[in-house]
Amino acid sequence: MFDLIVRQANIVGKQLPQDIACQQGKIVAVALRIEGEAQREIDATGRLVTPPFVDSHFHMDATLSMLGQSRQNESGTLLEGITLWGELKPEQTVEKVKERALKLMNWSIARGVLAIRSHVDICDPELTAVQALLEVREQMRPYVDLQLVAFPQDGYLRDPKARENMARALAMGVDVVGGIPHFERTMADGAESLRQLCELASKRGLLMDIHCDESDDPHSRHVEALVAETVRTGLKGRVAGSHLTSMHSMDNYYVSKLLPLMAEAELNIICNPLVNLLLQGRHDTYPKRRGLTRVKELMAAGINVALGHDDVLDPWYPLGTHDMLEVAHMGIHALHMSGRQEMESLFNAVTYNPAKIMQLEGYGLEPGCRADMVVLQASDPVQALRVKAPRLKVVRAGKVIAETPEVKSHVYFDDKVVDVDFT
Ligand code: FE2
Repeated sequence: MFDLIVRQANIVGKQLPQDIACQQGKIVAVALRIEGEAQREIDATGRLVTPPFVDSHFHMDATLSMLGQSRQNESGTLLEGITLWGELKPEQTVEKVKERALKLMNWSIARGVLAIRSHVDICDPELTAVQALLEVREQMRPYVDLQLVAFPQDGYLRDPKARENMARALAMGVDVVGGIPHFERTMADGAESLRQLCELASKRGLLMDIHCDESDDPHSRHVEALVAETVRTGLKGRVAGSHLTSMHSMDNYYVSKLLPLMAEAELNIICNPLVNLLLQGRHDTYPKRRGLTRVKELMAAGINVALGHDDVLDPWYPLGTHDMLEVAHMGIHALHMSGRQEMESLFNAVTYNPAKIMQLEGYGLEPGCRADMVVLQASDPVQALRVKAPRLKVVRAGKVIAETPEVKSHVYFDDKVVDVDFT
């Protein structure tokens, strides 16, 4: 007797629908027809079944902080967002941060997002958010893989306490080393911060994730130092560069030198289309730059690229429900990636690619993988993106942990009723 069998699932890469059998939290068989019974069966005929969505770039400490606030980020810039967050920070308590994070994670689970890498601001003498999110990580461990990045929001060198706080946060159990070189006072300080942070990550055997060149300034080239330090400190494949929006505005000749260096360092890239479309290009009149990094070219260079949500209802982004299909849908438009294979590659950018960045163990739909999956009201990834498909069932360790009813509309003509589901 299996714990769960998902029958007749459409799986990317398989010609025919497959049955998926789960036992003790693992996928134990994937085959055209699996004989036997299970405690629970899900009929997935005509439905795409995918491993869970993964958001490798999020800010859980700030999320939902603008719910019910009268003040908003009126200019829509990164810098006003940082100022606004600076005003809100002193009001935060462990309980408030936990409450907001747990509420957001209910949304995440309902949207099929079962792995999240969240940056947590360490430029607060009390490390309130660190404490709160460490508790949330433990509380939610049965449901969501939450990976935390120690993020020196006010600059690793610029903030006099950041170095000490980084060491404290890592000692408390934060998983990943973060940084923000473009917020240091000078380019030289930015490069120096990366030198120190790479050495720290290398010495401690940790992954890294750097907010890098989140700027419209084509001369913001910290990615160059990140690549060099990644190679020098032996961190190949273990470092993510988040945002990299300045690459949008860089000279093409310089980018042609940069891309092979990034590939050589096996740098992972995380682009955040929803948030950077709002934040970037704010100093432009017309034409206005989109300000997103060069995802198509990065992928063509063999570089692993993920898309992140970044923010939901916080000082940097006034919208969102933590829906990674919405992120990829925006990416299709803003990155000019509307070819069929390109759209499929952006579906991977919210599933397999960020799972690789987070080094999630047992991610996928093969026997031996963790029994985590999502049944979508769509037949394939492109249709899922087009209709932003409802997540009918969200499965964690072989158990259904969230359900959304099938979405159907009814159109009433004089002589008949037509059911519409947009697929
Ligand atoms: Fe971010």
